[in-house]
Amino acid sequence: MIVLGIETSCDETAVSVLDINGPENIKVLSNIVSSQIKLHAEFGGVVPNLAAREHVKNIAQVFETALKTAGITDFKKEIDLISVTHGPGLGPALLIGIAFAKTIAMIHDKPLIGTNHMRGHVYSNWLNPDFKAHETIFPILNLVVSGGHTELVLMNDYEDFKLIGETMDDAVGEAFDKVARLLELGYPGGPAISKRAEHFLVSSLQPSIEFPRPMIHSKDYNFSFSGLKTAVLYKIRDLKKESVEINNEVTNEIAHAFQKAAVDVLIKKTFKAVAEYGVSSVMLSGGVSANSFLRSEFQRVANEQRLQYSYPPLIYTGDNATMIALAGYLAYSKNPNNASWKSVDMNANLSF
Ligand code: KG4
Ligand code: ZN
Repeated sequence: MIVLGIETSCDETAVSVLDINGPENIKVLSNIVSSQIKLHAEFGGVVPNLAAREHVKNIAQVFETALKTAGITDFKKEIDLISVTHGPGLGPALLIGIAFAKTIAMIHDKPLIGTNHMRGHVYSNWLNPDFKAHETIFPILNLVVSGGHTELVLMNDYEDFKLIGETMDDAVGEAFDKVARLLELGYPGGPAISKRAEHFLVSSLQPSIEFPRPMIHSKDYNFSFSGLKTAVLYKIRDLKKESVEINNEVTNEIAHAFQKAAVDVLIKKTFKAVAEYGVSSVMLSGGVSANSFLRSEFQRVANEQRLQYSYPPLIYTGDNATMIALAGYLAYSKNPNNASWKSVDMNANLSF
């Protein structure tokens, strides 16, 4: 099946074309992502209406490039299915992708699937060449970490997702972004914090700062990151009161201490759930899964416990339409009914 994916839930306008013949036979023919990061950086975060306006400006061009790169010359003949993100995300941004997808589905009389963005992130693991989809992998415990979400999701089969824990306040990516702002590292903050923390780790300096690990011992699988962000705020304030200059070295150490606290909580809770639910596979996904410290801790504990593990290839950790095409294909394979432009609606708060 040739599947077209469309993603506009946040600040990336993305279109992909995939040739898929079952979950273990996926060929990416094109993966075009036009990022608006630079535009939103000056506001310190994504501005929904501005994101929507940029999607309108870019989507037709991104679509044309995706088709051209994939070698599609006759849309009507060659495309079998269209999948578009219909939530969760920023309402005005989502609507642009949905309106575009509905229009081409209607004109070309193609089936259209509304796809859950977070399921897309989970399925980005199927794009990892080291991950063997044909093995007995289910049940899988998924740690999904992005700018808007921090979720532990148990997956018993394709399309069978059960949310077992989530953040009570800020998402972990949001905490990275807010701490980066406190440290004046710009937007988005995740990559900057990660780089600064790495500088600290290779410096062989002894850590002198320790931050709290909120909810690490709670009996449930929920998270909280807002208190950790506040602890960083207070630490910076106290250091300034003591006339300590927040120079590069201090910034690196704070970044490391924050990252370590956040990753400790994520890892501890994930592997506690692994034990309780008796799963033998664990997966990481979402924008924050690009974090190298999180990846290496995740891999280390999974290896210790002899679990099958996976994370997405780096190019698919952030928002992209390849994961949306794949998720749409898997949903359509399970239930091809109602795959019509008439039945796709936006749901900004869609859950798993
Ligand atoms: O999945 P994503 O691209 O968009 C959402 O669906 O939210 O995730 C974006 C988030 C941002 O908060 C960004 O700071 C974070 O992922 N991020 C990282 C890293 N790269 C991106 N966080 C920590 N370390 C990274 N290397
Ligand atoms: Zn995302």
